[in-house]
Amino acid sequence: MASIFSKQKKEKTTSLHLKIDLHNHILPGIDDGAQDIDESLEMLEAYQAQGFTKIIATPHVNSERFLNSTDDILEATEIFLEAKEKENIPIQIAVSAEYYADKHLFYLLEKNDVLSIANKYLLCEFSFYFPPIDAKLIANEIKNAGYIPILAHPERYEYWFNDIKAFEKLKEYGFLFQSNLPSASGLLGPIPKHNFYLLANKGWIDFLGTDAHNAFSIYLMQNIIELNIVQKTLPRILNYYL
Ligand SMILES: [Fe+2]
Repeated sequence: MASIFSKQKKEKTTSLHLKIDLHNHILPGIDDGAQDIDESLEMLEAYQAQGFTKIIATPHVNSERFLNSTDDILEATEIFLEAKEKENIPIQIAVSAEYYADKHLFYLLEKNDVLSIANKYLLCEFSFYFPPIDAKLIANEIKNAGYIPILAHPERYEYWFNDIKAFEKLKEYGFLFQSNLPSASGLLGPIPKHNFYLLANKGWIDFLGTDAHNAFSIYLMQNIIELNIVQKTLPRILNYYL
C-alpha cells in the first residue's frame, strides 16, 4: 500500500521546461547584449546547462541606439556560428531581431528588409517611457507586410500598470504577447511582475522568452521556470512551434 502513495508523490514533482528561446541578445558586439564572441559562447553554454535546444537571436534594431542593418546582423551571426561549430554545442540557432516600432521599422517593412521569426512573426518593442501614438497603425504595417506582430515584454511598459483595457486593445489590433521570464520573479521590479501575473491569469501570454543579455541571467531561468505562474502558462504558449 505504501508504495502506491510514494509513487504518486514522485510523479507530482515533475515540472515543465522551456526549450526554445525567441528573445535574447546573444549575438556578439552589435547591441547591449554579448559584447564579444567569448560572452556569446558563455551565454550558449548557459543555455545548454538549462536544457534549451533552440535559440532565436534577436538583436536590437533601433534607429537611435542600435542601427543594425540586416547585413550587420547576418555578419554577427556568421561569426557566432563559426565559433559555436568549434565548441561543438548542439543547440539550434536561428536569427531574427527585436525591432523598435518607429518610422525606421516602417521603412524596413516597405523594403521587405526584415528578419522574421519562423517566416511568420515579427518581434517589436515600444518605448519604455511613453505609449505609442498609434499602436493600431504599427500592427497594421506589420500585418500588411505579411507578418504577425509579437509585442516584446508587454508587462514591462509601466505606463500600462494594471491596464487591462490597454492590453485588450493591443490584442484586438492583432499583437501576440511575448513576456519575459524574469518579470514573473520580480527581478525587473514590482510593476512588470504585477502585469506578468495579470496577463498570465488572463491567458494572454503567447510566448515566453528570456530577453537575456548575459550568461548570468540565463542561469537564473531554472528557478523562474518552476514558479507556479510560469508552470501554469507553459502549456498554452507557442514557443514549441518555432
Ligand atoms: Fe530584448
